[in-house]
Amino acid sequence: MNILVVGGGAREHTIAWKLRQSPRVDDLLVAPGNAGTARVARNLPQIKANDLEGIAQAAREHKIDLVVVGPEDPLTLGIVDRLAADGIAAFGSDKAASHLEGSKAFCKELCQRYGIPHARGASFTSPYDAQSYLKEFDHVPVVKASGLAAGKGAILCDTQEEALATIDRMMIEAAFGEAGRTVVIEERLSGREISVFAFSDGRTVVPMVPACDYKRVFDGGKGPNTGGMGSFSQPAWYDAALAETVRTTILEPAVRGMAAEGRPYRGVLYGGLMVTDDGPKVLEFNCRFGDPEAQVTLPRLKSDLAEVLQAVATDRLHEVDVQWSDDACVGVVMASGGYPGEYETGFPVVGLSNVEEDALVFHAGTRLDEEGGVVTSGGRVLTVAALGANLNEARGKAYRNIQQIHFSRCHYRRDIAAPAQGATGE
Ligand code: AMP
Ligand code: GLY
Repeated sequence: MNILVVGGGAREHTIAWKLRQSPRVDDLLVAPGNAGTARVARNLPQIKANDLEGIAQAAREHKIDLVVVGPEDPLTLGIVDRLAADGIAAFGSDKAASHLEGSKAFCKELCQRYGIPHARGASFTSPYDAQSYLKEFDHVPVVKASGLAAGKGAILCDTQEEALATIDRMMIEAAFGEAGRTVVIEERLSGREISVFAFSDGRTVVPMVPACDYKRVFDGGKGPNTGGMGSFSQPAWYDAALAETVRTTILEPAVRGMAAEGRPYRGVLYGGLMVTDDGPKVLEFNCRFGDPEAQVTLPRLKSDLAEVLQAVATDRLHEVDVQWSDDACVGVVMASGGYPGEYETGFPVVGLSNVEEDALVFHAGTRLDEEGGVVTSGGRVLTVAALGANLNEARGKAYRNIQQIHFSRCHYRRDIAAPAQGATGE
C-alpha cells in the first residue's frame, strides 16, 4: 500500500522509519518531511502539514491508500474529514473527536460525565465568573487556556493573586489569542507524571507502552517549558497493575464516552496523567502520538505499524495482535541554543554517520542544503534514541551516540532517564 505521513518533526520521522520496515508498504511519502525522512521516504517539502487541500490533492495524485497524520493542528482543522470526502482512508481522529485535544473545557466535561478520574475544576468563558470561582476555590490552582497553545497554555499558580492575574492575561489581554478566551481552572495535583497512549478504532482499545516526557529546557526541570527535551519508556513504577487501572478507568471509559457523545474516537488517544496517591488522574487528553514520546515508544513496537494503523482507520483493530518488546528506550533531544526562545538556524550538522549502527537518530528541524548536507532549520533539531535491555543501558547508548553529532550552539539535557531523579520526567 502507499502511505503519506503528514508532518515534519521527529515524531513523523519515527512513524515513517517504522512504516518503512513493513513489507506491506510500497510508496512512502512525507509532507513536508525533513532531512531525516528523506532517507526513508520521499518528501513533499512544498506541502505544509496544515494545507488540507494540498494534502488531499497529493493523496489523490500519488494514489495513497492511507494518510497518517502526526500533529494536532491538521487533525483539529479536520484533515481526516477532508480526506474522507475524497474517499481516502486516514489514521487520526476526525474534527469532532479532535475536540478532545482542541478544547480542554470539553476534555473536562467528558471526564466529569463519564466518571474518568481527573484534576477537578471547571471552565469559564467570562473572566468575572472565573475570578469569583477562584475566590472560593480551596485548592492550589492551575489556570489553562482551553484551546491549543503548543504545550504552553497551562500556568501553575502559587497564589490566588497570580491565578487572578493569569485570568486577566488570558481572558482580557488575550495573551494566548483565541485559545485563552475560554479558561479551565483546576486543582494542582502532585505525583508522578506519565504519558499513556492507546490505539482505538472507536470501539476496540489497545493500550500502547507509556513514556515519561521532559518538558523543561534545562537539567533538573529548570527553565521554560518546551515541546519536550527527551523521553524514556518506561519507568519501573509503571507496573502491570497500574497499566490495568489506566486501561479500565481512563482509556476505555474515554473511548466509550466519546462514542456516547457522537464523536467516535479513531486514532491515538494520548492521556497526560498524574499518578497521585489516589491513583492515576487525567491532566489532559491529546489526539495524536506524543513528541518526543513517539521516538521512544514506536521503536518498542514489534508488530507491523502499517497493519495496525490501517486496522484503526478501517475499524478492524480487534483483528490485530499488537506486541511490544520489553526493552527500554531513551531519547534525548538535541536543540538549537536559545530554544524555546530565539535561536539561529542554518548550521551544518556533522557526525551523523559516526553513530552506532543501531542508534536511532530521528530528525526534526533539519533540511538538506544545496550540496545535500544536513543543516539545522528549527528549535528541536534531532532526537537521538537507543534501545537497551534496561534504562541504564539505553541511556548510556543514547548519550554515547549523541557525542558523535555536532552543530554550532547545540543544547541538550544531560539528565534524561537519570536514576537520581527517580526517572519521573520533569
Ligand atoms: P497540559 O498542557 O495540560 O499538559 O499541562 C502542561 C503541564 O503542566 C503538564 O504536563 C503538567 O506538568 C503541568 N500540569 C497541568 N495541569 C496540572 C495539574 N492539574 N496539576 C499539576 N500539574 C499540572
Ligand atoms: N510530549 C508532549 C506532547 O507531545 O504534547
